[in-house]
Amino acid sequence: MSGTQQTKPQHPAADSALVRACRREPVPHTPVWFMRQAGRALPEYHKARNGVPMLESCFMPELVTEITMQPVRRYGVDAAVYFSDIVVPLKAIGIDVEIKPGVGPVIAEPVRSLADLDRLRVPTPEDLTAIDAAVRLLTAELGATPLIGFGGAPFTLASYLIEGGPSKGHELTKAMMYGAPELFTALLDRIADITIAFLTTQIDAGAGAVQLFDSWVGAVAPEDYRRYVQPASAKVFAAVASRGVPRIHFGVGTGELLRDLGEAGADVVGVDWRVPLDEAARRVGPGKALQGNLDPAVLFAPPAALDAAVQRVLDQAAGLEGHVFNLGHGVPPNADPGQLARVVEYVHEHTRTGS
Ligand code: CP3
Repeated sequence: MSGTQQTKPQHPAADSALVRACRREPVPHTPVWFMRQAGRALPEYHKARNGVPMLESCFMPELVTEITMQPVRRYGVDAAVYFSDIVVPLKAIGIDVEIKPGVGPVIAEPVRSLADLDRLRVPTPEDLTAIDAAVRLLTAELGATPLIGFGGAPFTLASYLIEGGPSKGHELTKAMMYGAPELFTALLDRIADITIAFLTTQIDAGAGAVQLFDSWVGAVAPEDYRRYVQPASAKVFAAVASRGVPRIHFGVGTGELLRDLGEAGADVVGVDWRVPLDEAARRVGPGKALQGNLDPAVLFAPPAALDAAVQRVLDQAAGLEGHVFNLGHGVPPNADPGQLARVVEYVHEHTRTGS
């Protein structure tokens, strides 16, 4: 067919409520999914993992498929989230990284110098075969339900790599940002390339949307964000733009960064629970959908209080160009799955338009 005009076949999930909301198109109901919907809140997850270390499980396509499908079956959410972790591409290139239960990712040899950058090579397709296989299995099973692929944003991954593990103050990270800005920006640029490989593998294997998690970027002042961080995040969004799937960007404590996060190139800006969605829309500006933003802690309140909090989010979202319902951060490990199912049902019921 060379030489003739070919239209790309439509993605199976292109008409889903999630993708439509991300594109700011009319929806049959407000789509709902939960960050960290797969995993520890579900008893069937503990059964499936059955002692397999977290990062090993991420390279087992059948197990990844089963764990990813569990919350879709149980909650009736509008999207699946690829079961993996932001440090998986680091593991794939041979970095000594482990996820310590109750702690988070721990890196044996932190990045401190220019020479350390040599260890951070960009993954080849061979490094990512298990990711490609898992996403293909999943999207075949999901059909028209979108799979949300994801990756770690340069700042958040840099923080783990520099600190060697989770950090509250990100002191070493900021010491490098201010004290060795060339090394810091070279590191973020390299991580951008690693994340681009991770994301494009997922999109090319069938993911219907992607989310870039910059979980800890709320620690950075806006001026520093624009100078040292945004260029690397923008590189990631630009690199996947031509693949045509919606791009979501999320961080915690980012009230003062919302506009900058959108301007990095996302179609959808994720908002935590600290800023009401109507105010978030004013900060982000026109032309973007928003995602969020129920306080995860409200899952521990009685059902009537939970319903009221969900309704408040819906009321604050009423004037948005596009809204994807989510929590303001991940599902807490000890959350009651019944409460999450209740949220999905409530949102669907109270936003159904019949269109
Ligand atoms: O359902 C989903 O959302 C997909 C699964 C998912 C995991 N990690 C699985 C996981 C996603 C999207 C992530 C992303 C991730 N990983 C982020 C960004 C999201 C966020 O919460 O801001 C971050 C910062 C990480 C790093 C990380 N990995 C942390 C902080 C932890 C928790 C450590 C702990 O035990 O408290 C992990 C481990 C992890 N990632 C688990 C799961 C299911 C728990 C592993 C276990 O079973 O012990």
